Amino acid sequence: MTEAASHSQFTPRVFSGIKPSGGLTLGNYLGAIKRFVAMQGEAYETLYCVVDLHAITVWQDPAELRTATREVAASYLASGIDPEKSILFNQSQVSQHAELGWIFNCVARVGWMNRMTQFKEKAGKNAEKQSLGLYAYPSLMAADILLYHATHVPVGEDQKQHVELTRDIAAKFNHDYKTEFFPLTNPVIEGPAMRVMNLRDGTKKMSKSGESDMERINMLDDADTIAKKFRKARTDPAPLPESLDGLKDRPEARNLVDIYAALSDQSPEAVITEYAGAGWGQFKPALADLAVAKLAPISSEMQRLLDDPAEIDRILARGSERARAIAAPILERTYDIVGLVR
Ligand code: TYM
Repeated sequence: MTEAASHSQFTPRVFSGIKPSGGLTLGNYLGAIKRFVAMQGEAYETLYCVVDLHAITVWQDPAELRTATREVAASYLASGIDPEKSILFNQSQVSQHAELGWIFNCVARVGWMNRMTQFKEKAGKNAEKQSLGLYAYPSLMAADILLYHATHVPVGEDQKQHVELTRDIAAKFNHDYKTEFFPLTNPVIEGPAMRVMNLRDGTKKMSKSGESDMERINMLDDADTIAKKFRKARTDPAPLPESLDGLKDRPEARNLVDIYAALSDQSPEAVITEYAGAGWGQFKPALADLAVAKLAPISSEMQRLLDDPAEIDRILARGSERARAIAAPILERTYDIVGLVR
């Protein structure tokens, strides 16, 4: 299908989600949440989800899952997602996700799943011991997106392959059933912080599950912890170069410049121009101050919201109701196309 055919008949609609599994990192904030807020004011209808059904593809303690779900919701709200402008909800309250996920399990091919690098990384040598859900995860993710006919999905670089698979699933469904029912969704992967790296090893992604807490900045870290983590972040001895070219083969240095750029809404080039020739003794404290200035108001607002979990639950319930209103007719039409008697 051509791009034109894939878009003309669909309302511009953004869908994205975050798993409630462990704490949120600066990677989640810069690669996802901050950009979700920016897209809210643009010409899209926006849906932001706490993807709890994805979280349970690996073991989650039930009480911790509840807390983590409310924490992701609080991070959306504290960062500026307005539950009136956007539909903010948790996945399990909209049962159509799981239902469309099943249909897509019957569309996606085992060979496609076998190529998913994230499954390979997570499963490592223990693939046999992983849940079937973890393996099928990308087809549920396709359902999340296509259940709303979403046209744009802002994500970090690590999710690109999953959004491409979503396009493959949509194209195969459309082809097999001779329809143009599902859009070919575009991943939106833009800006300097699409892959925030680990502070101790600039070749690895910053993640919630890394071994040491010193590798990542958590959204709920206090000012002293943030300053300490940046101070101890691995770098090389050379000062900052005159141009971005000088950061080639210096992954840790590049990462800190990119983080600074994303936090200050500048390009990495502008940051280099400002700090050309500066040593780490100058740059790291400036970065820590910037990160604290941006994150502290968000984390204190998150704490405030988390003191009233019932209010968060009300917001999620209301968002779920609004999400169902879009999802239900799309699932019904899908069942009809497939030939399921209703
Ligand atoms: P998750 O929960 O692992 O991450 C949520 C979002 O944060 C981004 N991200 C990063 N971006 C830049 N640098 C990093 N170090 C970094 N770490 C995480 C991720 O790219 C993501 O955008 N499968 C998804 C959740 C999901 C979803 C969806 C996303 C389920 N259904 C439908 C979009 C649309 C995931 O596990 O994200």
